[in-house]
Amino acid sequence: MTQKKRISFGSKLGVVAAAAGSAVGLGNIWRFPYELGLSGGGAFLLIYILCVVLLGMPVMLSEFVIGRLGQANPAGAFRKLGSHRKWQLVGIMGVCSSFLIMGFYVVVSGWTMEYIFQAVSNGFVNKDTAALSQAFTDFSSNTARPIGWMTLFLLLTAGIIIAGVEKGIEKSTKIMMPLLLLIIVALGLRAVTLPGGTDGLKFLFYPDFSKINSTVILNAMGQAFFSLSLGMGCMITYGSYIKKENNLGKTVVQVTSLDTVIAVLAAIAIFPAVFAFGINPGQGPTLVFITLPNIFDQMTGGYIWSILFFVLLCIAALTSTISLLEVIVACLTEEFKLSRIKAVIFSSVGIFILGICASLSMGVWSDVTVFGLTFFELFDSVTAKILMPLGGILMTVFAGWALKKEAVEAELSSAGNYKVTYFKIYLFLIKYITPVAIFIVLLNELGLGKPLF
Ligand code: PHE
Repeated sequence: MTQKKRISFGSKLGVVAAAAGSAVGLGNIWRFPYELGLSGGGAFLLIYILCVVLLGMPVMLSEFVIGRLGQANPAGAFRKLGSHRKWQLVGIMGVCSSFLIMGFYVVVSGWTMEYIFQAVSNGFVNKDTAALSQAFTDFSSNTARPIGWMTLFLLLTAGIIIAGVEKGIEKSTKIMMPLLLLIIVALGLRAVTLPGGTDGLKFLFYPDFSKINSTVILNAMGQAFFSLSLGMGCMITYGSYIKKENNLGKTVVQVTSLDTVIAVLAAIAIFPAVFAFGINPGQGPTLVFITLPNIFDQMTGGYIWSILFFVLLCIAALTSTISLLEVIVACLTEEFKLSRIKAVIFSSVGIFILGICASLSMGVWSDVTVFGLTFFELFDSVTAKILMPLGGILMTVFAGWALKKEAVEAELSSAGNYKVTYFKIYLFLIKYITPVAIFIVLLNELGLGKPLF
């Protein structure tokens, strides 16, 4: 079969920067620390790392294989490679997930911009936790302001995607990712030198095994899934842009390690400070937006640290939203033959409408509910709790059972160029272990898992 040469990332570093950029996002810096805080610290960290290795790595490798073999967007890749046309539904489901994730993700991303603005204009100074909490509620429930920030953020994302894969995604992530690493290491170093900070490190690294229960295990699995951008076709799309000579296995190890290191660094930056200032680590989703400004206000040099932190959060969100938008745009350009600009405009308008619904549901539409959930909660729950785990199961089942073993091995070894000593273990995992494990997460998140334990 002859194939038209597909656009691709120009360099190996570009591949890692783009894929790690997708993985590293609000999930690492906002969600990971609060999940860890809620689930008992070190024990959660341990289980999380196990989940990344046993669950995340095989799914990511499968997505890369499907994308690079199929040389297409998720819907196209499944249609080309699958024996039944129905397989393309998995890809279409991924595109729908992208829309819905973007619907609430751009809202939170917009908040990070407001918080950069607040940090720069000294908005956190002399406010206690109660005042900061009130300020957060006032802002997020406001009608125009969060939508304004969200629009700006969406335009930024759209601009990068219009610029294209190599000049837009690769170039921007190659600059933003090292910057992000630098900022988070600096914040981590600052945090561990705080007096009283050692308790935070103990909380983070000392696994209290009595805290491990089925819920902690399942939460950690869910977090690994979300954080690594799995189950919705992001890594299939990026996989299709990876050159044939690049080593997929190595890329997966690099991307998952970077994602995990950054999540841990974020926790190192946050927990010593939380303990030093006597704040409850199990605070939940408000940890970043309410507690951290409070902490920064009480720190020497807090002005600079707070700006750095929210810039970091914004950059991390941006490298994730561009990957989410690219999934939709790749599908629209290839499946519906739209021009890249038209595809970006069309999808951005759709996301904008979803984003308005999600943003207003924090305020004037807070009593508009579907299945008892506000729009924000609905988009979040439907994707993270149903579509992504389901996608992950179907993708590993597809790679393990529907694709030819030889084709998968040839893809992983780049036609014999690399040794794939891990192949048997990988195959065993995607055939028997990973889909079953994700299935258990799915049941649990739907609230049906309890009878299993
Ligand atoms: N992994 C991103 C994060 O941690 C979120 C994301 C999910 C991005 C799915 C792309 C696809 O924030």
